[in-house]
Order: sequence, then structure tokens, then C-alpha cells
Amino acid sequence: MNTYNSLINNLETLDLNRFKENIDQYLNLIAEGNKTALDAIYELTEMEIGFRKQQSITGCVKVANFPFLKEIKEFDFSFQPSLDKAKIMDLMTLRFIENAENVIFCGTPGVGKTNLAVSIGIEAAKHRYCVYFITFQDLISQLKKASSENRLEARIKWFCRYKLLIIDELGYQKMDVDSANLFFNLIAKRYERLSTIITTNSPFSKWSDIFHEPVLTNALLDRLLHHCSVININGPSYRLKDQMQYMTEDN
Ligand SMILES: Nc1ncnc2c1ncn2[C@@H]1O[C@H](COP(=O)(O)OP(=O)(O)O)[C@@H](O)[C@H]1O
Ligand SMILES: [Mg+2]
Repeated sequence: MNTYNSLINNLETLDLNRFKENIDQYLNLIAEGNKTALDAIYELTEMEIGFRKQQSITGCVKVANFPFLKEIKEFDFSFQPSLDKAKIMDLMTLRFIENAENVIFCGTPGVGKTNLAVSIGIEAAKHRYCVYFITFQDLISQLKKASSENRLEARIKWFCRYKLLIIDELGYQKMDVDSANLFFNLIAKRYERLSTIITTNSPFSKWSDIFHEPVLTNALLDRLLHHCSVININGPSYRLKDQMQYMTEDN
């Protein structure tokens, strides 16, 4: 086997596929005197690194379990004037994750709570933070199942693998005391170590109705709110945007 074929084999063995795909083009450039060997090798390794970075980002976004992929550039801030854009862009810097702070999006349906949580989550996944998205209902049923199977601690540990956990739609249904305790357990474990984003339609004053126990609710809010950005969104539902347009046209 000649050296060229051996090199191709080696690149395959080392899984350097971008390098392999582009080597001919670079060998031609070198042969024509249009590229030095040093530059060629450097650029080929850069290509390989760039590809791997992209692959790892795609992997992080995939495991995050997002319900949809909408980035912040698609979000129409002009539709929601009460929303502090500067605050959202500050969250997009992801420093809240570094500081293990929480974010709570509070507001009526359709104002963009889930969208904003997902957009921040995508940005975090792109920066290769471990991110996981789950609805509150799914989270509780998973914790309940784990508890009934005597493996609650392992399940909580599993949720604590994620630097950022997004819990969507807290407060849409009431829960029993056991479930409330399970949730408190998780939040207590994440407290001051890991960031959590919560979306909810319930103001904090109503949380003791959801969790039943006022003492537990206070302990929960105490931990959640200690290092937390609370974003209240008061505005129209984006889901009703088109209907609103027709209403204005009719008038
Ligand atoms: N300001 C906005 N700009 C663009 N799309 C929006 C905006 N607000 C909401 N949406 C879209 O409207 C739908 C409802 O938003 P969502 O985030 O699910 O609302 P919520 O979680 O507050 O009920 C989603 O498809 C979302 O992407
Ligand atoms: Mg939502």
C-alpha cells in the first residue's frame, strides 16, 4: 500500500473524517504551491475541531428534550412591551448558570414563558451546558414512580446531573402532599449548586394552594427565590395574535 492509501486508512482509524474528505484538495493546493504544508495541516485540524464542536452542540440540544427549537432571535419583543428585553439578554449571557441562580417566568397562557425558557436553554446547550427540559407534571410522575420503586435518591441525582433544569407549567394542577415533598426534595438538592428555570401561570401567593402545606411552600419559595430572577410577563397571548388583528381590522 502506498503512503497516500496508508494515510487515508490512518485518518479513518482515527475518525478524522473531515480531514480525510478535504485532504485531496489540500494536497493539490500544496502541489500547486498555493498553500504551505504547515498551513494545510493546521486548516485541516481546524476543520475537524469545528465539526466536532458542532456535533457536540447538536448532541447537547438533542438530549435537552426541548418541545420545539426556537431561538431568541425569532422572539418578537415588540409584541410584549412589558417584558424587559435587557433582562432577557442578560440571561442569554448564561452568567446565571455560572452563579447557580434560578429564573421564574410568571404570566398568563401564551405570553411566551415556555418559548423564552427554551431559547435560553438552547443557548446553554450550544455552550455545552447539560440542559434538560421537562414539564412539571412529567417531573412529578417520574419522581413518584422512582419513590415507589425505592430509587428516589438515584432519580434526584439524575436530575442533578443537569446544570440547567427547565421545569415547565408549574401550577396547572394541584398536587398531593407526597408529590409536594418530592418536588421540595429536588429543589433543595439543586439549591445554590445548579440553576433551575420554572414557568408558571400561578403568582407566588397562590403556591400554597398548589402545594397544600404553607410551611413546605415557604421553604420551597425560600430556596427558589434566594438567588432568582423573577420575570413577570403581563401582556396579550401570542396564540391569539391573529384573532386580535382581525378584531382590530373589524373596528
Ligand atoms: N413574543 C413572541 N414572539 C414570537 N413568538 C411568540 C412570542 N410569544 C409567544 N410566541 C409563540 O406563541 C406560542 C405560545 O408561546 P408559549 O411560550 O408557549 O406561551 P406560554 O408558555 O406563556 O403559555 C409559541 O408558539 C411561541 O413560540
Ligand atoms: Mg408554556
